[in-house]
Amino acid sequence: MTVSRRQVLVGSAALAALGRPARAQSAGRQLIPAPSRAAIIPGTRETEVWAYNDTVPGPVLRFRQGERARIAVENRLADETSVHWHGVRLPNAMDGVPHLTQPPIAPGGRFAYEFDVPDAGTFWYHPHVRSGEQVERGLAGAFIVEEREPPPVDRELVWVLDDWRLTPEATIAGDFGNRMDASHAGRLGNAVTINGRVPDRVAVEAGERIRLRLINAANARVFALGFGTLAPQVIALDGHPLEPHAPAGGRVVLGPGMRADLLIDVAAPPGSTLAVSDNFYARGSYKLVDMAVDGQRRAAPLRDPVRLPDNPLGRPDLAAAERFTIELGGGMMDPRLMRAMRERGGQPDPEMVRTMRERMAAGHIWTINGESVTGHHHAPLLTLTRGRSYVFAMNNDTAWHHPMHLHGMTFRVLRRNGEAVPHGEWRDTALLDPGERLEIAFVADNPGDWMFHCHILEHQEAGMMGTIRVS
Ligand code: C2O
Ligand code: CU
Repeated sequence: MTVSRRQVLVGSAALAALGRPARAQSAGRQLIPAPSRAAIIPGTRETEVWAYNDTVPGPVLRFRQGERARIAVENRLADETSVHWHGVRLPNAMDGVPHLTQPPIAPGGRFAYEFDVPDAGTFWYHPHVRSGEQVERGLAGAFIVEEREPPPVDRELVWVLDDWRLTPEATIAGDFGNRMDASHAGRLGNAVTINGRVPDRVAVEAGERIRLRLINAANARVFALGFGTLAPQVIALDGHPLEPHAPAGGRVVLGPGMRADLLIDVAAPPGSTLAVSDNFYARGSYKLVDMAVDGQRRAAPLRDPVRLPDNPLGRPDLAAAERFTIELGGGMMDPRLMRAMRERGGQPDPEMVRTMRERMAAGHIWTINGESVTGHHHAPLLTLTRGRSYVFAMNNDTAWHHPMHLHGMTFRVLRRNGEAVPHGEWRDTALLDPGERLEIAFVADNPGDWMFHCHILEHQEAGMMGTIRVS
């Protein structure tokens, strides 16, 4: 289904655009979501999109760690909206969740966001109102917080990864949140883009040191990027530094909402071409883009490692932590139904099947701890005491992947299926494979009601969300 690059003529303007970070904007930060047009597949007709400041993705917002961010939003959509600053630890009132932390911004309305940015790293922003449609139509952008002393690199690239479900006329298919997508893997597109365009090649130089910031802004697509002989080092995940390491199995896995910072020292000679491929889906492996080595920056690539300074995160006290179990359930091929069927010698349990059908018909396809929540405002799933440490043991009792995202706080990833997770991972979004168990820990140090949801937006909107109250 993926639109092949061979079907696509790439203009030289597209190549130039990929060579530098998506457009940076340092002053007068204002975001204006509005209908716009974008050349998603260069050489074919433009697509009607919704865009921040007429660019897809929106402008790269850059701040320095410890700075105060002020972003004025003016809604020129015909729809309500809001802006959520994904991964930024900020006061609850600035979190951009409609009905929970603020009223939605009405068409023609404005909202001024203002908060300090305590952590350096790669974050992003997107609406939290009907995000399955609004994010898919193009509303998303990078939110970069630079270290007080950024590590020296020759060049920084920001890649906002996305995929689009386009009709042959290059319009965005209007089947948002349909039951098929909602109950399976979510809305997967047929055109994968880097910074809003189906890419062809990115020029790099031999010996060059590149910091590549990756952001998965897709509704549902999980990426597993292989960089081959480019041999990147992972230096941060979800914005937060960790021990630099080669990606496990040579793949950088990014569920929706997740980010990775990579350090690449180009060791290949001028004239060579190195493919970046995505091989997450067993049957859908494809080449994302070619890195073409044009010219030479230095004779031998740099070898000194880069260890970014830690962010000021509260360290959970594991000995004193309170434990909660989080059960993810629902979706097609529900393992609970399968188990019940096995117990009945292969016969489905009619009562279970009936309740499941009713739930699904009502749009309640997914559950967290048995609850299926589709609005933003409701009784909290859990109430935590401010300042205490918590361990969440998450159990994915479904046949699908779920990138689980917590607002307001950053968690340590402790164990995956009982095995210690290496390198000291901190995250705001963690991907659970089908059947997987993941233990995370954090200090409940940010008061308020915080969303906790699957970042496959179709799953979120079909029940896989809740709020965590810290009081
Ligand atoms: Cu990136 Cu609740 O979202
Ligand atoms: Cu999910």
